[in-house]
Parts: sequence; C-alpha cells; structure tokens
Amino acid sequence: MAEAEKKELLQGKIIATLFFEPSTRTRLSFESAAHNVGAKVIGFSDSAASSTAKGESLTDSIKTVENYSDIIVIRHPRDGSARRAAEVSETPVINAGDGSNQHPTQTLLDLFTIHKEFGKIDGLKICLLGDLKHSRTIHSLATGLSFYSGIKFFLVSPNSLLMPTEIIEKFSGKNFEQSNDVTQFLPEIDVLYCNRIQKERFTDPVEYEKVKDVFSFGKEILEHAKPGFRIMNPLPRINEIKPELDTSKAALYFQQAANGVPVREALLNILKDVEK
Ligand code: NCD
Repeated sequence: MAEAEKKELLQGKIIATLFFEPSTRTRLSFESAAHNVGAKVIGFSDSAASSTAKGESLTDSIKTVENYSDIIVIRHPRDGSARRAAEVSETPVINAGDGSNQHPTQTLLDLFTIHKEFGKIDGLKICLLGDLKHSRTIHSLATGLSFYSGIKFFLVSPNSLLMPTEIIEKFSGKNFEQSNDVTQFLPEIDVLYCNRIQKERFTDPVEYEKVKDVFSFGKEILEHAKPGFRIMNPLPRINEIKPELDTSKAALYFQQAANGVPVREALLNILKDVEK
C-alpha cells in the first residue's frame, strides 16, 4: 500500500497510549504505527505524570480516557489489568503487557518474524529460555504457538523460574522437554527465544541476585547450533545475549523490534471500525 493511502486509514482517529510501566519498543512502535496510518496520539509514558499518582483507580482512568480516544493501548504492572480495562471501556483496549501475565501484540510480531524468516511456523522446534515464571512475552508466545501443529518446545530456566503450569497446560498435547541448560538441545533447535530475568517481578532482591547472570551467550553458542538457527529476544536484553552476537545472521532481535511497526499498523487498522 502506498504511504499516502496508508495515511488515510485512521485519519481523524485518536489513539491513547497509557503506559503505567516503562517501555521503549512497545510504546514507540505503537505511536510510530499510529502516525503512519494517520492517527493522532495522546497518552503518558509514566504513571507518575497521571492521576494514578493521586490515587485514582484504573477503572476511573479508563472511564475518562475512553471519552478522549478511539483505541486505548495500555501497559500496567498488574496481571489482568488490561482485561479489567476492556470490561469497563466502550473503546477497544489493546493489552501492551499486563504484569507477568501476557503481552499479546509482542506475540503477533514474534510470530510474524518467525514466519518471515522460516516461511512457516508449523513443525518448528522452539526453545523458550530465561525467566519462564515471570516473562509475559514468553507466556504469550507459548500460548500463540500452541495453536500451531508439530511444534516442539524446549523450556530452559533456573529451577526457581519454571514455566507456570497453566501455561504448560495450553500446549500439553505438544512435545516438550525441560532443563536448566540449553547446550544439549542446540543441535535440534530452530529458534532460541530468550528473555531477560524480570528483576521488577521479584519480591526478594536476594533471589534476583542468585539468578541474574545464569544465562550469558556469546558466539560460542553458534558452534553447536543447527543450520538456520535463529536467536530472538523481545528486548531489552541485559546479560543473556552478548553484543558480539548482534552481527551474526542468527540474531533476529532488532528485526523483531522493526516488525513491531507494520504489525501494530495492521492491528490499529483492524480495530478502527469497532463500534463504540
Ligand atoms: C518486554 C516486556 O515489556 O515484557 N519488552 C517488550 O515489550 N519488547 C520484555 C521485557 O521487558 O523483558
């Protein structure tokens, strides 16, 4: 579609981006996408700058912002907050990450990236690695992948950060293996999807210190990898992937970040016609 035509898609619409938690890629790619399709953007990137800091409830904030916008994009530290917002809002709500629960638009761009790279998703062998207990991007991706056939999952995490059983149940019919170490799986894996240890979700900082550096991959990981092996990460990365891997053909993480824009343009376009 021509740029000029694209700019007409959401002409006159207002997108509200309500970010109660830090974000770089999700907020800015939503805002970039909104501009590309001709919408205007309002919102905040820090709840300290909103009435939340005065004690306003999420429900009241949403009941207010729905009057100012055509689509609401929300990121919030509480699990289930986006669902709650959607229940009280007449305006469509997009979940841009709710606590350690889910991050569905990240999954859309992750699946888009995998499909673009491999030409398929069915039948791939995918390793989910890192903080499987708290990573919402991994919870959502595992959920999304459970709709495809022939996927084999490898789950790699420290024992204290295992995948929650309710997520494992979603792909219980599928083949999966669990371990603390990825090395043995490398000759089989198509995609290594890593996410950082989620520091902000730990109640005990000592527990975080124990696991924060358990994964740190450099070029050596490529030595035993399958041909066509790819590394993904929703970013930010902390220690789990060394910058020396960035120039490798295996590194897909900055392409993922780039793919966030067209995927979110498409999503905004789908939601623009939802009747209030
Ligand atoms: C992720 C998130 O916010 O859950 N980031 C993102 O949206 N790309 C991953 C993370 O914070 O580790």
